[in-house]
Amino acid sequence: MSKRIPMPIPFGWFQVAYSHDLGAAQSMPLRYFDTDLVLFRTESGEARVLDAYCPHMGAHLGYGIRDQAGGGSMVVGDSIVCPFHGWAYNGEGRCTDVPYANNMPPRIARGEQVIRSWPVRELNQVIFVWYHPQGIEPGFEPETVPEADPENAEWGSLKLHGWDIQTHMQEIGENAVDPAHFLYVHGTQNIPTPEVMEFDGIHRRGRLVSKMATPKGEITGVIANASTGPGQATVRFSGICDTVLMANLTPVDRENSRAFYAFIQKKVDGREPVGGVADAIVKDICRQMSEDQIIWAHKKYFDKPMLCDNDGPFAKFRKWYSQFYAAA
Ligand code: FES
Ligand SMILES: [Fe+2]
Repeated sequence: MSKRIPMPIPFGWFQVAYSHDLGAAQSMPLRYFDTDLVLFRTESGEARVLDAYCPHMGAHLGYGIRDQAGGGSMVVGDSIVCPFHGWAYNGEGRCTDVPYANNMPPRIARGEQVIRSWPVRELNQVIFVWYHPQGIEPGFEPETVPEADPENAEWGSLKLHGWDIQTHMQEIGENAVDPAHFLYVHGTQNIPTPEVMEFDGIHRRGRLVSKMATPKGEITGVIANASTGPGQATVRFSGICDTVLMANLTPVDRENSRAFYAFIQKKVDGREPVGGVADAIVKDICRQMSEDQIIWAHKKYFDKPMLCDNDGPFAKFRKWYSQFYAAA
């Protein structure tokens, strides 16, 4: 475990890609949860995730060769085909073909699972993977974000931003319960007023009222944020240009995280807002992320920070978060 931030990787649902990153019969390598993985989509359109290494001789299943060089390896039907000797594996991690064998290895002949398969869900135009350090099956489901449904005509398309952040995910999540840092790190006009800070099972909800600078002058905005487990967060900004942010966090390893930010803005007269306030909101959040990033990359985790009366409910947040750490 890292000395700077001594927490394990939490369990839960974590975004590993957007749906549009992966066409039918495509594959790609992933590295999350301190593990090498391969993501592929079957010809019938289902996203699947397996451990990366082929149990035959250890080739990585996510890197194609020859016609596929520079991309993922081949997918045929429901199976991904290893680029090294052509053995094929389905999404359950069973070998479906050893093209040049007269006699299959016994485990394959018995139809056993030979590669670890990871639970996958695809919703909100996002592909989520369930991680649990002990391989325990999902204990909850990711949340549907109605604004991210591509059939929803009232809301625009996803505007994507992403960051690699050199810290453990819990440190990033803690921002949501830290009103004071907005003034000092982000230069807001004042410290936003937290109206709601709720912790309820796997859910966390917060509501902040804040003054925001926009090209049309200062406005009072409401920021409603909600988490489902440690990996999925949705932030809804209202007051001027209605914006929904899917702010999903995924552990790369114990000290590195990936932030997937997708902004969705409400259409005005059937069209997506462009420029002006709509862009300013997105830009402002992205600027805030790059500011936070400097703090996160260098700060140390203190188990017992020295807090004052107007600090946020850090102890409650940490207690809530700790439910996602598996008992050793
Ligand atoms: S290493 Fe995968 S088929 Fe040989
Ligand atoms: Fe921040």
